[in-house]
Amino acid sequence: MTATQERTSRTGDKLSGRVAFVTGGTRGIGAAICRSMAAQGADVAAGYSGNDEAAERFRKQFCDDFPDQGFSVHKGDIGNPDDCRRTIDEVIQEHGRLDVLVNNAGITADRTVLKMTDDDWRRVVDVNLSGAFYLSQAALKHMLERGSGRIVMISSVIGETGGIGQANYSSAKAGLLGLTKTLAREAAMQVQRSGKTDGLGITVNAVTPGYTATEMLDSVPDKVLDGLKAKIPLGRLGEPEEVARVVHFLAADASGYITGQVWGVNGGLDM
Ligand SMILES: NC(=O)c1ccc[n+]([C@@H]2O[C@H](COP(=O)([O-])OP(=O)(O)OC[C@H]3O[C@@H](n4cnc5c(N)ncnc54)[C@H](OP(=O)(O)O)[C@@H]3O)[C@@H](O)[C@H]2O)c1
Repeated sequence: MTATQERTSRTGDKLSGRVAFVTGGTRGIGAAICRSMAAQGADVAAGYSGNDEAAERFRKQFCDDFPDQGFSVHKGDIGNPDDCRRTIDEVIQEHGRLDVLVNNAGITADRTVLKMTDDDWRRVVDVNLSGAFYLSQAALKHMLERGSGRIVMISSVIGETGGIGQANYSSAKAGLLGLTKTLAREAAMQVQRSGKTDGLGITVNAVTPGYTATEMLDSVPDKVLDGLKAKIPLGRLGEPEEVARVVHFLAADASGYITGQVWGVNGGLDM
């Protein structure tokens, strides 16, 4: 365990009795989010798309480390609206409820604008933006029935600053910020109208990680990565656990007065 992992893995009871669904929860930042949710007492459902081996490895490790927490994995392509609705239904069937949705799964297909194909554009927008819409729509329906819930979008600093070769990714991640604020307003309005509020309410927030050490950065050449690090005031990549702790904070019952906000975790890259 790294010193950062040790610092960020303190346990607590902020999410005790809650059920959290984390898309892309079997690897990278999503896996760290699942672990931090469980460390705070949540039962966890992790989504993934195709890497069965990584999903099985994560399941084993998670169940060894958190034997007291409920856990399930849900395979589906969030670029497909039917898979989004099916996986939300599966989680509710399996765990009886859904308190927290973390729209974390995302992909890149980097190419400069002039070289970008229709497919590169569509696929990245479908997965990174439309997926979050369909998942949130299905989850919101369930959360409104109870008058409480938390939705957290994992956007990116690139959605705030733009990025060379990332028109598709940057547009999708910026789109998530508009989706976050609209959902936050609609959810608040509908909870108030229903009169069902138990004080927890439904909140929707976004987190914008900077460059974070996961397999997503594997495709970035070392030379480019060194150049990126030189631009980060804190001088290093982020750890997945450093993103995850903000997510479990936002997901907690006590964070009910924070909604429609964008939380940067980027080592000072954008300030
Ligand atoms: N790493 C960074 O530097 C960084 C910076 C800013 C923002 N982010 C954002 O943080 C999130 C997580 O990134 P990461 O670096 O942890 O990524 P990662 O290591 O590449 O993991 C991606 C996860 O998403 C799942 N996934 C991919 N496509 C999917 C699809 N179509 N349907 C359902 N699940 C899918 C993967 O499932 P499989 O295992 O089955 O492939 C995997 O579990 C992404 O939204 C990313 O854009 C990352």
